[in-house]
Amino acid sequence: MADGTSDTRSSNQMWGGRFASGPDAIMEEINASIGFDKKLYAQDIRGSKAHATMLAHQGIISAEDKDKIVHGLDTILSEIESGAFEFSRHLEDIHMNVEARLAELIGPAAGRLHTARSRNDQVALDFRLWVKEELQKTERLLTGLIGAFLDRAEEHAAAVMPGFTHLQTAQPVTFGHHCMAYVEMFGRDRSRVRDAIERLDESPIGAAALAGTGYPIDRHMTASALGFREPTRNSIDTVSDRDFALEFLSVAAIAATHLSRLAEEIVIWSTPQFGFIRLSDSFSTGSSIMPQKKNPDAAELVRAKTGRINGSLVALLTVMKGLPLAYSKDMQEDKEQVFDAAESLELAIAAMTGMVRDLTVRTDRMKAAAGSGYSTATDLADWLVREAGLPFRDAHHATGRAVAMAEAKSCELAELSLEDLRSIHASISARVYDVLTVEASVASRTSFGGTAPSGVRQQIAWWRERL
Ligand code: ARG
Repeated sequence: MADGTSDTRSSNQMWGGRFASGPDAIMEEINASIGFDKKLYAQDIRGSKAHATMLAHQGIISAEDKDKIVHGLDTILSEIESGAFEFSRHLEDIHMNVEARLAELIGPAAGRLHTARSRNDQVALDFRLWVKEELQKTERLLTGLIGAFLDRAEEHAAAVMPGFTHLQTAQPVTFGHHCMAYVEMFGRDRSRVRDAIERLDESPIGAAALAGTGYPIDRHMTASALGFREPTRNSIDTVSDRDFALEFLSVAAIAATHLSRLAEEIVIWSTPQFGFIRLSDSFSTGSSIMPQKKNPDAAELVRAKTGRINGSLVALLTVMKGLPLAYSKDMQEDKEQVFDAAESLELAIAAMTGMVRDLTVRTDRMKAAAGSGYSTATDLADWLVREAGLPFRDAHHATGRAVAMAEAKSCELAELSLEDLRSIHASISARVYDVLTVEASVASRTSFGGTAPSGVRQQIAWWRERL
C-alpha cells in the first residue's frame, strides 16, 4: 500500500486538496471506520463495478478506463479475500481504501471511478446491499426454525401438557399446539423480514452527495445491475435515510424477544421441578462443582442476546433522532449496531433451532402435570351449561365449590365421588367423568385455532404448504 501507517500527518490523498496538514492522531482515531466497515468490501466493489459500467455505457468514461477499473476491482476483491490486502486507518474507510489501492494498481484511470457519485450515496448503497443480504439470510434461518417446530408439533400433536396463564395451570393443551404458537410468532417475524426487504429494495447510487448530479447517469441501469427493484426517488432522502437499518434492528428485536420467551420456557421446563423436557448434551453444560447439574446455558445466552439487540435498536434510533437532512457523520455509527445485532440474531436462531430439534419431550411428566391443578374445571363448568342448562356464571360458581371440595380432600376433580359432585349440583350424572380427563378436554376444543389434536394437525398442514 502507498501508506500503511496511521501516524503520517500528510493531508488525505482523497480529499486533502484544501488541507495543509493531515489530521491529529485523535481526529484520525475518531474519524476512521475501516476497523468495522471493511466488512462491506464485497458490496463496495460490486457497487463500484456497476457504477463504472454505467458510466462507460453513458459515455461518461471510456470503455478502456472502465475495463481497467473493473479488472482492478476484481484484483482487489481477491486480495482482500486472500488476506493479502493491507487496510489503512489513514484512508478512513472501506471506500477510500479500495479506491487508493485501485490507483496503485491501474494509475490515473482509478480517479475516474468517483465521477458522479459521493461517499454519501456509496455508503448508503454498500450498507443497503449488506442489510438486504442479511435479511435474506435471516429469512432462511427463520424458515429452518419454523421447520424444526413443525416437526416437533407433528410428533406431539396429541401429547397433553398443562397450558398456563400467569404461569398457573389453566387448561390442558397439547405440546403440538404450544409448538405451533411459536410457529405463528416466528412466521410473523419472517413476514416482517420480507416486508423490510420489499421496502429497502431501492438503489441509492447516483444520489451523489445529496443533490443528484449533472452527468447523464442512468440510475435505472445501476439499480437493475445491483438487483434492486428501482432507484430511490429523492436524492436528499437517499443519503439521509437509515430506515432500512432501523427496520432490520426492529425486526431483529421483535424476533429476539420471541426467542427469549422460548428460551425462558426451555429454562423453566428443563428444571427437575417441571421436568417437561430434557436438553441434549450438545446444548447444555455442566457445573464445575455440582456433579448432578445440567445447565441450559444456550437458552440462557439466547435470552441474554435480546438485551444486546434491543440496545442496538435504541442506540441507532438515538443516533438518528436529531439529525438534520442530509448526511451527517453521526450516521457512520450505524454499522456496528447492525453488525453486532445481526451476529447475535443469527447465532440465537441457530442455537434455538438445534435445541428444539434435539430436546427430549417427557410426555409422561407433561401429562401428569396437565391433570393436576384442577385443569379441567372449565370443562366441568361447560358440562353444567351444556347438560344441566345452567347459565355460565352459575356453572362457574358451582365448579368453584367443587374445586374447593377437592382441595379440602386433597384430590383431583375426577377423584370426587358422584355423591360429592351431586351435593354441589343435583343434576350432575356419572357421564360428567367423561369430560374430566385431560384427553377429553383437549379433544373437545375444536374451535378454529383451538388445541384439539385435529385442529393442531390442520394448522401444521397449513404451514407446511406455506414453507
Ligand atoms: N465512512 C463513512 C460512513 O460510514 C462514509 C461516508 C462519508 N461521507 C462523508 N461525507 N464524509 O458514513
